[in-house]
Parts: sequence; C-alpha cells; structure tokens
Amino acid sequence: QPIKPWGGRFSEATDAFVERFTASIGFDYRLYHHDINGSIAHATMLARVGVLTEAERDQIINGLEEIRAEIVAGTFTWSVSLEDVHMNIEALLTQRIGITGKKLHTGRSRNDQVATDIRLYIRDEIDAIAKELTRLQQGMLQVAEANADTIMPGFTHLQTAQPVTFGHHLLAWFEMLQRDYGRLIDCRKRVNQSPLGAAALAGTTYPIDRAYTAQLLGFDAPTENSLDSVSDRDFAIEFCAFASILLTHMSRMSEELVLWTSSQFKFIDLPDRFCTGSSIMPQKKNPDVPELVRGKTGRVNGHLIALLTLMKSQPLAYNKDNQEDKEPVFDAIDTVKDCLRAFADMVPAIQPRTAEMYEAAKRGFSTATDLADYLVRRGVPFRDAHEIVGKSVAYGVQTGKDLSEMSLVELQQFSTVIEQDVFAVLTLEGSVAARNHIGGTAPVQVKAAIERAKASLASR
Ligand code: ARG
Repeated sequence: QPIKPWGGRFSEATDAFVERFTASIGFDYRLYHHDINGSIAHATMLARVGVLTEAERDQIINGLEEIRAEIVAGTFTWSVSLEDVHMNIEALLTQRIGITGKKLHTGRSRNDQVATDIRLYIRDEIDAIAKELTRLQQGMLQVAEANADTIMPGFTHLQTAQPVTFGHHLLAWFEMLQRDYGRLIDCRKRVNQSPLGAAALAGTTYPIDRAYTAQLLGFDAPTENSLDSVSDRDFAIEFCAFASILLTHMSRMSEELVLWTSSQFKFIDLPDRFCTGSSIMPQKKNPDVPELVRGKTGRVNGHLIALLTLMKSQPLAYNKDNQEDKEPVFDAIDTVKDCLRAFADMVPAIQPRTAEMYEAAKRGFSTATDLADYLVRRGVPFRDAHEIVGKSVAYGVQTGKDLSEMSLVELQQFSTVIEQDVFAVLTLEGSVAARNHIGGTAPVQVKAAIERAKASLASR
C-alpha cells in the first residue's frame, strides 16, 4: 500500500470503503496531460524565483515527461489508495526521482492544482468543439446554397403557414448555431484565467510569480482572489449551459429531421449509413442518429442541473463536493462532441425531396397572406382583407380547391377589386420572392445571407 501523502497526522488506515468512496482517480485520470503541464509550469516558476534549483527543476520535468509517456503508452497503473490523478502522479514522481519529487508541491495545493487542470482541460475541449461546430455550420451552408430556391411549407403550430425555401430553413438552423458559437467563445474567456498560486485558499508564503505560470500555461491572466480561485466552478456551469442550449437547438433540428423523413412528410431522405432497421418490421428505416441526439439533450441538461445544485450552498472556499464537478463536465463534453460529429457528417448528406416539399407547400392555403397583402395594395384595409381571404379559404375547404386553383370569377365573389394579376401573387414562387428584405425568405435574400454567413465563418 502506498503511503498517503497527507498521512502524517493519522493514526489508523483509511477504511477500505471510504478510500474507494472518496477517490476520484476512476474518472479524473483524464486530466493527466493538463496536470503534468500545470506541474511543469509550477516547477519552472519555482526555479525562476529561486525556490528550486535549475537542476531540481530539470529532474522534475524529465520525471514528469517520462510518466506522461508511460500513461500514454498505457503502462501506468493508477492506484485508488492514492485517491486522485494529482497524488498518483506526484507519488510516482517521487518514487522515480527521489527526494526532489517531494519538492514539487512547494507553494501549491491540490485545490489550486485541480482548478488549474480542469480549466486547461475545458479550454482544449472548447477549441475542439469550436472546430466541430464550424464544420457543422459549413455543412448547413452547403445544403442551404443548393436549396436557396427549393420551396417547402413553413409552419407555425406545425400547421401550414406560408411557403419558405429549404435554404431559408437551414439558415435558421445556422443562426441558432451562430449564437451557440458566440456563447462558447465567451465562456472560453472566463475559463482561461489561472487559479494556480491560490494554493489551498489564502495564497502562499513563497515568492511565487503567478503571472509567469499563467503565461506559461497560455492563460490570459491570473485570477484575482485566492478564495474565489479554488472554489469557483462557474466556468464549468457556463460550459454546461452552452452545451445544454446547443443540444436544445440540435434536438429541435433532430425533431424536424425525424418528421421530415417520415412517410407522412416525405420531405427528405437520409442516407442508409445514418439509419438503422427493425428486427421485426422489414420495411423500416429509422432515423436513429437524430433521435439519439434528441435523447442525449436530456442527459446534458441533467449535467447542467447537477453542477448548479452542486455549487448552490457551498461556503468558501474549497469543499470536497467540488470533486463531483468532473463526471458531468466530462460527459457533457463527450456527448456534445459525439452529437456534433454525427450532425456534421450527416447534415451535408441530407437529400431533399423537392417535388414532395413543393406539393406540400401548395396544400393548406399557404398563400392566403399573399392574397390579403394583394387586397391591401388595392386599398382594402388589412382587417377587411383578412376577413375576405378567410371567406375565400372557407369556400376552398368546402370545394376542395386551393386559392390558386379558383377561377377569377370564383375569387371575385369575395372581393371585386381582385383582377387577373392576382394569380402571380398566389403562386409559391411569387410568394417567397415577395419577401425580399434582410432576413426574408426570397431566394435572392437567402443567397445574400449565405454569403454573409460564409464570410462570418471565414473570419473565425
Ligand atoms: N480530487 C480532488 C478534486 O477533484 C482534488 C482536490 C482535493 N483537495 C482536497 N483538499 N481534498 O476536487
């Protein structure tokens, strides 16, 4: 049994169950790269301010690099009795390089160490997630560009509302992700502050240089207050909030994909490689990927609530409760990355069934608002125009005719200002083309929006 690094004041061994209950090595081993990087920065700083000699610093750094290589190679055995990643690595370092290893923890505590590690870890994952999010957005733009003129029904209350283009719909998705990207980058700023040097809670008596370790680790600055530094987990909460909102968006997109692939909608096909079948019903092709993304939203929302609840009553400064931050954060990261990867691969492969979309847009009186706007242009007050068109729709429901299928004489029963030119506004093409302003569904606007979106991605 390795001796506990904190065992001096204890007179009996830790209860075997308590040892397992309090250990975090089962999950925090993931932090080993960042733990080693943090230790190297700390040792480098200690040598610079004269607390370690240069020879001691080099011995520590070489020892840590050897340990890193062993962990990467999979030959390192983690020990539960050494509790966590920090003590495992430090204990082995001392075993390897002897007495100098025992000097590494000078002027440091696991409290600032773990806070540093987790910030470094999340920062790297944010950068990976930002790339994958961008790849997904590029895929959306690709499909939007190919479908700037593809007409589909737009819905409110899931009832046919007005025609839109498929490209416009995809740009709506794109905008949701633009905001998510903004939240992610904003969160990164608060993640990227160095708590190293806060030590246990009050700072340390050694002449440490916090700005130097911050700089070595690529942080923007050292954190301001030592008590806050070791107890703050806002950045993890913020990351999970980003993850929850992103997955909420992706869940909405998933829901639409699931609807659109159904034989009731038939708006799109997903390639077979993104679907699975049924063990009993031979005809089935199920949209499992979007369904799972929709489902995984629940688990990420759970992680956000777990972190908020974890922090809500903690007094300053560090409490062991904080050890519980890791599994939710790790799983939120894994889940977000998997979902983004699935979507980034799948979205560009969406195959729109343009004829079905077009036919669906013709049903449900989708150009009724266009007829009302036509009447307004001929001097009818909007409320009266609404009433006139409502009557025309009721007539259409009765006779089974869409507005564009009625004759001029039929339409004139409801208003005498209607003339032959009404048919131009009742077409789906006329309807979308008329919504010609920033943010509108007119194909020219969709194309312009795609160009702006591309420029925005290029400037990242
Ligand atoms: N494994 C611990 C955590 O994740 C490291 C910090 C332990 N600090 C302490 N004072 N027990 O929070």
